[in-house]
Amino acid sequence: MHSLIQPHGGTLVDCKLNSDERQTTLDRALTLPRLTLSQRNLADIECIATGVYSPLNGFVTAEDYYDIVNNMHLSSGLAWSIPVALQVSEEVSDKYKLDTEIALAHSNGDILAVMTITSKFKPDQDHEAQKVYGTTEDAHPGVSAMLAAGEVYLGGSIKLINTILDNEFQNYRLTPADTRSEFTKRQWKSVVAFQTRNPIHRAHEYITKIALELVDGLFINPLVGTTKSDDIPAAVRMQCYETLIDKYYPRERVLLSVFPAAMRYAGPREAIMHAIARQNYGCTHFIVGRDHAGVGSYYGTYDAQYIFDEFTPGELGIVPMKFEHAFFCTRTQSMATAKTSSSTPEERIHLSGTKVRAMLKLGELPPEQFTRPEVAEILIRHSKDSQRLEARV
Ligand code: ADX
Repeated sequence: MHSLIQPHGGTLVDCKLNSDERQTTLDRALTLPRLTLSQRNLADIECIATGVYSPLNGFVTAEDYYDIVNNMHLSSGLAWSIPVALQVSEEVSDKYKLDTEIALAHSNGDILAVMTITSKFKPDQDHEAQKVYGTTEDAHPGVSAMLAAGEVYLGGSIKLINTILDNEFQNYRLTPADTRSEFTKRQWKSVVAFQTRNPIHRAHEYITKIALELVDGLFINPLVGTTKSDDIPAAVRMQCYETLIDKYYPRERVLLSVFPAAMRYAGPREAIMHAIARQNYGCTHFIVGRDHAGVGSYYGTYDAQYIFDEFTPGELGIVPMKFEHAFFCTRTQSMATAKTSSSTPEERIHLSGTKVRAMLKLGELPPEQFTRPEVAEILIRHSKDSQRLEARV
């Protein structure tokens, strides 16, 4: 039997308590100061507790925070690019004291985890914004989410009492332990991961298939945590992925499973975090195309590729597969990039997400050169439904 790629740091983190400890911890948790988690915190807890963020076993402490923000490493020396923080506002922060245990709760009242606060600090958030997101502008969705979450950071390892039960996409919510056993069962020695927050368009299809030519399996791992309001909702995207995989991909060479994280839109820094998470799922390769995890014009087209060169060889086990901007070439009637095509700019069909959203709003089907018709149908149906809903409000 072959062995899979090691998780980042060598061990897959699992914060779930065993059944004996679970009950006593839950009894104790009922008496502790309670912190109600945001959607973003819930996504982070899920990623931490199931090992998607290995070697993290809790929310960021001051010790790791400054190393991550300034040097893209944890204090242990392992690569890590974005602090995963539990933030509260200054007004409520007195409730949560250093060196005490707190209960972390879902907004429905369920207690999910406990955390001993081993670090409580108030960092310079403008500095974090500049280093991690490359801007201090509040218009950046990642920066505004970080600032809105609160000024005080509570850090410490977590112990998971309950998994989040009301999560969507239960059939597609595989943990790293699950995906690793699935890859082993399928005898995939090399697996390329594809991160996406969009429906899979022709450019995505092109790069995923080129990647699959070189490895045993393709892990389609769409992000389903919080995204900005004009991104297509995850439930609609899941329909697109299922439809597309059924008709256009070799079923036995593709595994579809969701990535619970929220989008940070941190471009290059997020590409590193995305890659590490996919290594933890057991993937050997990771697709990084144009403006990965970008938003607006905050990052250069290939910044998320260049950042991988800032790490010494071997620091990241997973290998980035870098792709140039893909487009439809009318001369060859196929997808291509500038690297492989001699077409003139006039022969290249590039459609931006903004342009496609505008077409959908007008009830126009995006062309086949941009998206498969079956996907276009799902998108236009969703667009009509949401317009009808808006009209009623
Ligand atoms: S992202 O926020 O998840 O990066 P998106 O779902 O659009 O957004 O992209 C998924 C992956 O496909 C990223 O690696 C991105 O760089 C890549 N990508 C998207 N569009 C293109 C394109 N036209 N050409 C090449 N790569 C692309």
